Amino acid sequence: MADEKTREGLGRTALITGASSGIGAAFARVFASHGFDVVLTARRERRLRELARELEQAFAITTHVVTADLADPAAPEHIFDDLRARGVHVDALVNNAGYGVPGYFDQSTWQRHRDYLQVMTVAPVHLAHLAAPAMVGRGYGRIINLGSLAGLLPPHAGGTLYYPAKAFLIKFSLAHAEELRGTGVQVTALCPGFTRTNFKQASGGTVEAVSFPEFLWMDAEEVAAQGYRAVMDGVPVCVPGWFNRVLAALFKYLPNSLGRWIIRATSRA
Ligand SMILES: NC(=O)c1ccc[n+]([C@@H]2O[C@H](COP(=O)([O-])OP(=O)(O)OC[C@H]3O[C@@H](n4cnc5c(N)ncnc54)[C@H](OP(=O)(O)O)[C@@H]3O)[C@@H](O)[C@H]2O)c1
Repeated sequence: MADEKTREGLGRTALITGASSGIGAAFARVFASHGFDVVLTARRERRLRELARELEQAFAITTHVVTADLADPAAPEHIFDDLRARGVHVDALVNNAGYGVPGYFDQSTWQRHRDYLQVMTVAPVHLAHLAAPAMVGRGYGRIINLGSLAGLLPPHAGGTLYYPAKAFLIKFSLAHAEELRGTGVQVTALCPGFTRTNFKQASGGTVEAVSFPEFLWMDAEEVAAQGYRAVMDGVPVCVPGWFNRVLAALFKYLPNSLGRWIIRATSRA
């Protein structure tokens, strides 16, 4: 790796949730390529360890693997306790872990919805709450919250909690960024459109509910690279990809009723 690229993260550590696949694994590669040590967390330990080995070899960085199920409300504390015990402090946090619940809201159990809200909203906010004060103390921090283009568009049936969860994270990021202004801690809500990952399989069809031509899907690596640049440049909301940016702008100015009609007409749920 070029020296210029590597220097940015030297002596610093990035914690990435959902690092076992897709955009999270891509983020781990991007941060590692800039010289950050990385903490990889998710439930699938074997995948995390394979990625850790790959990154250590490719970028000569230090990696830490912390397995955690973010549906467990105690998981964020456990992750930080574990890191404190290892003497690791978190300079960058990527709140990436996420999935979709297929089907209509009334068809799933409350337990399933509660776990979902825990993973998608409470855990990222809890992790930011654990990480930010020490970042402020050191005068440096970078926080990326994975929103989605979905958080900027009218919801379709079948995306009942996905859209509001992502909208919540976007608003949270904006508010947190305002509060952290001038502290050296920068917060970005990253809002990808459709991205080629394991998400389609993991969410059991949520993604397929909306028609979207394959050629407009982005690669996880490109999404992560744009998210990394955005948080380093202090961009509060980043929508990667020209087509996604056009969609976000269009739906922002369309009358609400027309926007909802378009989503209804183009969704298959
Ligand atoms: N792909 C898209 O089109 C798209 C578009 C916009 C936004 N996003 C957002 O991008 C983020 C990453 O999604 P992806 O597309 O990369 O999907 P993915 O390939 O399915 O990866 C999801 C990651 O989240 C982790 N995860 C899921 N449930 C978890 C839990 N209970 N505890 C801990 N980790 C958990 C998974 O790890 P384990 O299974 O090993 O725990 C996995 O590493 C999500 O927040 C998603 O909403 C995706």
